[in-house]
Amino acid sequence: MEKREKMYEGKAKVLFATDDEHQVIQYFKDDATAFNGVKRGSIEDKGVVNNLVSSRLMEILGLVGIPTHFISRLNEREQLVRRVDIVPLEVVVRNVVAGSMAKRLGREEGEPLVRPVVELYYKADKLDDPLVTLDHVEVFGWADDHEMSTIIELAHRINDILLGFFANIGIRLVDYKLEFGRLIQSPHTLVLADEISPDSCRLWDMKTGEKLDKDRFRRDLGGVAEAYREVARRMGLS
Ligand code: TMP
Ligand code: ASP
Repeated sequence: MEKREKMYEGKAKVLFATDDEHQVIQYFKDDATAFNGVKRGSIEDKGVVNNLVSSRLMEILGLVGIPTHFISRLNEREQLVRRVDIVPLEVVVRNVVAGSMAKRLGREEGEPLVRPVVELYYKADKLDDPLVTLDHVEVFGWADDHEMSTIIELAHRINDILLGFFANIGIRLVDYKLEFGRLIQSPHTLVLADEISPDSCRLWDMKTGEKLDKDRFRRDLGGVAEAYREVARRMGLS
């Protein structure tokens, strides 16, 4: 496999083409942004940790039958993934009230939810990724009915697996964001794409409640790199 030209650069990752049109290289940067790019910074070795954590989580999900874009981790900062056409939705799964849910609905952060809640946000930076309903998704053609049933079912299955996985290492999986894509090679096949890492999850220590995720950066809590490394360490990755 040969690395070719840069195809796309996002806030935390870069995608490179390869000599196989169905596969791309996902490179993880240390750059960190929050509030849709308003706050910017860098977290030491974040790219290395997120590559490790996301590779392992995608591997675990793949092993239990969740289709993912992940093929292999190539080196410290890169992984080989299947090329997809991203569904323009951020699929947020919540087990505990936090972040924008707490603000929007006037609830206390930390309130457990009686069952997981799946929310859909339209991926549009200019609009600040607004919360949307299934009707919006259908009417504007972002995904069809069948795709949305699959996405929501996969989100719940992923949640069951990840909740148990993190509980085992003393971490409360509060909420996280998933993205799905259609394989370029097989457009009817939906797979989990992007990443699952402390950038895209809220992870709280089960005993102390300490935040082990990007909220440390968003809220200027300090110890950001250490928190990311702690997640990797508990996963047996460092
Ligand atoms: P929120 O409470 O800000 O809506 O975030 C919910 C979860 O989604 C949280 O774990 C962080 C993650 N997230 C992202 O990965 N990217 C984003 O752009 C946003 C807004 C949230
Ligand atoms: N990912 C978003 C940004 O880059 C928001 C966030 O994670 O808080 O600004």
